[in-house]
Amino acid sequence: MTMKAKATATKGIIALCGLALTGLLLVTGCGQPASQDESAGDSLPTAVMYKNPNCGCCTKWAEHLRTNGFEVDVREQAPMAPVKNRLGVPGDMRSCHTAVIGDYVIEGHVPADDIRRLLAEQPEARGLAVPGMPLGSPGMEVGDRRQPYTVWLMRDSGTRAFNRYPAQQ
Ligand code: CU
Ligand code: CU
Repeated sequence: MTMKAKATATKGIIALCGLALTGLLLVTGCGQPASQDESAGDSLPTAVMYKNPNCGCCTKWAEHLRTNGFEVDVREQAPMAPVKNRLGVPGDMRSCHTAVIGDYVIEGHVPADDIRRLLAEQPEARGLAVPGMPLGSPGMEVGDRRQPYTVWLMRDSGTRAFNRYPAQQ
């Protein structure tokens, strides 16, 4: 290859990379506003929440969702086990209330921020769960105290940690 031919070839590669890079930027550029729109307040899906009529912390969690821009449709249900069975909440993931938000199942005192992230990221999963009733999770506030807890992503292949909240004294 002569010097000139080599230089032309190199130029060609640079031009191609530039084009690919521009394409990439365009794709990312288009992707971002769309996902922001999805998490915007008015386009959030309504939360359909099933709760036992005697459970007070469930009502407090519903208020937490409303404060964070969700509409909540409360359906009183007793016992709750048939709902959890129908929605496929694994036994070790169960808490008091169960909600359906968009295509996802939300079990227990899951923070609204994690639900927003789930809706924005759209992972292939059944939904999120905070098993039990950890003190300091939304709806379970006792002063500023918080037990450490994990938000789990429920998938057919098993659960994995989605977010963790450390203890606060
Ligand atoms: Cu509860
Ligand atoms: Cu509850």
